[in-house]
Amino acid sequence: MDTTIDKIGQFEGQTVRLKGWIYNKRSSGKIVFLQIRDGFGIIQAVAVKSQFAPEKFEEIQKATQESSIIVTGSVRKDDRAPSGYELSLETFEVVGTSEDYPISPKEHGVDFLMEHRHLWLRSARQHAIMKIRNTIIRSCEDYLRKEGFLRIDTPILTPAACEGTTTLFETDYFDRKAYLSQSGQLYNEANCMAFGKVYCFGPTFRAEKSKTRRHLMEFWMLEPEVAFATIEDIMELEENMISYMASKVVEENANDLKSIGRDISKVEAIKAPFPRLHYNDAIELLHSHGNDLPWGEDFGADEETIISSQFDRPVFVHRYPAQCKAFYMEPDPKDPKHALCADLLAPEGYGEITGGGQRMSDYEMLKNKIIENKLPLEAYEWYLDLRKYGSVPHSGFGIGIERTITWICGIDHLRETIPYPRMLTRLYP
Ligand code: 4AD
Ligand code: MG
Repeated sequence: MDTTIDKIGQFEGQTVRLKGWIYNKRSSGKIVFLQIRDGFGIIQAVAVKSQFAPEKFEEIQKATQESSIIVTGSVRKDDRAPSGYELSLETFEVVGTSEDYPISPKEHGVDFLMEHRHLWLRSARQHAIMKIRNTIIRSCEDYLRKEGFLRIDTPILTPAACEGTTTLFETDYFDRKAYLSQSGQLYNEANCMAFGKVYCFGPTFRAEKSKTRRHLMEFWMLEPEVAFATIEDIMELEENMISYMASKVVEENANDLKSIGRDISKVEAIKAPFPRLHYNDAIELLHSHGNDLPWGEDFGADEETIISSQFDRPVFVHRYPAQCKAFYMEPDPKDPKHALCADLLAPEGYGEITGGGQRMSDYEMLKNKIIENKLPLEAYEWYLDLRKYGSVPHSGFGIGIERTITWICGIDHLRETIPYPRMLTRLYP
């Protein structure tokens, strides 16, 4: 019977066939212990000399790390084994050999591992992180679908900037220039006027010359946008979606969290409602902690760390000064120096994971903002059209998937949260 390691418990006492790779091996002359991985899990298989022809046993003894294999064996319950089961090997066949596999079970430096990312992904830790990534993406999408959102994809090659011109990746588009999308937001705004509640999910690009633990040149963003929604509506949507996501990770990935050393109680604590802090109050909080950032400036990692470590769950900072945020934000009618925007800062010093808010809905005001920001008006005519034909208040946000995974997994650098990170000095593999 063919099966996979995650389902092995259904076959206790029976003989099964597994297709996989040798993860690790130990031998004591008469017994060989093979760690077999198949992409679904890892299991120990035990080969006893007396049960094999001499040449076959020698082949098992000599088999190398990451050789691909097809084996059969009977399934035994073993409470000491991480998978809960062990395999008593009956047959063994090598499909593809593996000579001098570069990643041995010993410690390697991060640069070396990054250079071998295509192989590093086979390791147990990377496996756990990628499974958590999958749950995070899927549960956010599930939540939005349950709430009646339509997924509608936005273009990657675009004629104009969304998040400022300094971080644009420019590319030739025949006889013109095009830019890789920094955010699907502007198109989401058009799409929500057509479909009410929409979201896009895809890679976004920022030519940020920053070599930090939280910047990628290519990262994935999930961006919901809702017609007739206010900034308050959107903060509520965010906290509910993120709480749902966290509960799903606890439900489906408890073992993965454990295997990477994450304190699960931190993930369990992620429950709506999240505290909300006005920018002015956040500035006061910073000053009382000895940080003297002047009013009007956006927060950097230091400020976010001070603020976010005051709370045990994510905290919204809302109504930043319009001067430090993007051109499209609706001014606060109570005090137009402030924008109706909100960033969500994750606890434990992880900092900003979402950015969003209410979009400017007045035609003239938006047009002036575009001119003021020295953006090419002709590239935004379609965007201004949305304020010409039945404009309504509308709001949305973008959640950076890799930053979210970094926080949920409790790891210290986002490079391990994406299969193939694109960083300042890395475009390979
Ligand atoms: O705050 P940002 O720039 O907001 C937007 O792009 C809005 N247009 C989204 C919207 O309202 N639809 O980016 C949103 C999130 C950040 O909070 C952060 O989590 C992530 O994207 N992010 C990055 N993640 C990794 N590397 C980078 N260089 C990132 N820049 C932003
Ligand atoms: Mg932001």
